[in-house]
Amino acid sequence: MNMLVTGGAGYIGSHAVQRLLRDGHTVVAVDNLFRGHAEAMRLLEPQSGGRLIFHESDVGDSTRMERLMHEYQVDTVMHFAALAYVGESVDQPLLYYENNVIAGIRLLEACDRAGVGRFIFSSSCATYGEPSAEHIPINEDCPQSPVSPYGQTKLDFEHALRAWGQARSRAGEPVSIAMLRYFNVAGADRSGLLGEDHEPETHLIPVAINAALGKRDGMAIFGTDYPTPDGTCVRDYVHVEDLIDAHVRVMDRVKPGEVRAYNVGIGRGYSVREVLDAVRRVTGVSFEVREQGRRAGDPAALYNDPSRIERDLGWRASVTSLDEIVDSAWQWMKRNPGGYAGSRG
Ligand code: UFG
Repeated sequence: MNMLVTGGAGYIGSHAVQRLLRDGHTVVAVDNLFRGHAEAMRLLEPQSGGRLIFHESDVGDSTRMERLMHEYQVDTVMHFAALAYVGESVDQPLLYYENNVIAGIRLLEACDRAGVGRFIFSSSCATYGEPSAEHIPINEDCPQSPVSPYGQTKLDFEHALRAWGQARSRAGEPVSIAMLRYFNVAGADRSGLLGEDHEPETHLIPVAINAALGKRDGMAIFGTDYPTPDGTCVRDYVHVEDLIDAHVRVMDRVKPGEVRAYNVGIGRGYSVREVLDAVRRVTGVSFEVREQGRRAGDPAALYNDPSRIERDLGWRASVTSLDEIVDSAWQWMKRNPGGYAGSRG
């Protein structure tokens, strides 16, 4: 197939590009390199299988997107490009609406004009906000009530996508739409080429690995008084390659006129302390951990009920061990302590 992958140079997008190339697709990767890494594209170029075309561009440039869609006869769009820091979205909400909603609408306009038939959207469990205890584990019918501008922008785009799909069906040109609501994506490609490199880094696993690497002076646990077994927050960590596998499966199965939504998480939660134990075990390094107060906006426990995605797509996480997830992240980070910038040859 001929795919357009937005945010293709980012952490999750680059893993998608890698998988799609391996599967033999033509991949037009688009990224404005605001937080993406040109180096990831350079590393992926020689991948055997498919064909990679990279364009440095904003997805909000609908004229350019439409041109690319026509030029490469794009039939499927995977839309990863977005800003994804909850805290930043609270401080700079307009930036988030601009990037995650407005630019997304421009992309949809291009899809509409170019007659793209399939659209897979990277949504988030942040669209559920802070579900009450009876909704944990979280299934797709849980009320969506975001508590951050980030989550709200993801939900707004879900709504726009749904409405667009309905309009296309009414016009007799149905499109296939899927939205995948990610839990905590972690780990790195196990062939060792790609990894997670954010600036700033705020995610628990890479922060802890950076502490183990001595790149930072220890780290903090944000909150030890949550109503969880050990007092720290519980999250569902899904390996990035399993996450991408869910995209490939839904892409193959979603039919014209359908709008499907799936949660993607392994279906079990690990506490912050359990994650830190795993990082210590895997790296063999013990680093300083300070206990701090809660970080604003962190729900106590979020983990998935994977029944729907298992039933419909036959998807099940292949990596469920925290040590394995952490190890894949560790392997890349210890070889690339300066991230992609440090690996430029
Ligand atoms: N944490 C720490 N110390 C740190 C970093 C994180 O204790 O230095 C804790 C957090 O408080 C939280 C857990 O580790 O309890 C996980 O935090 P992350 O920042 O790794 O991930 P989040 O659960 O906050 O965020 C993830 C995704 C977001 C998404 C959000 C939805 O990364 O994109 O889930 O709730 F919006």
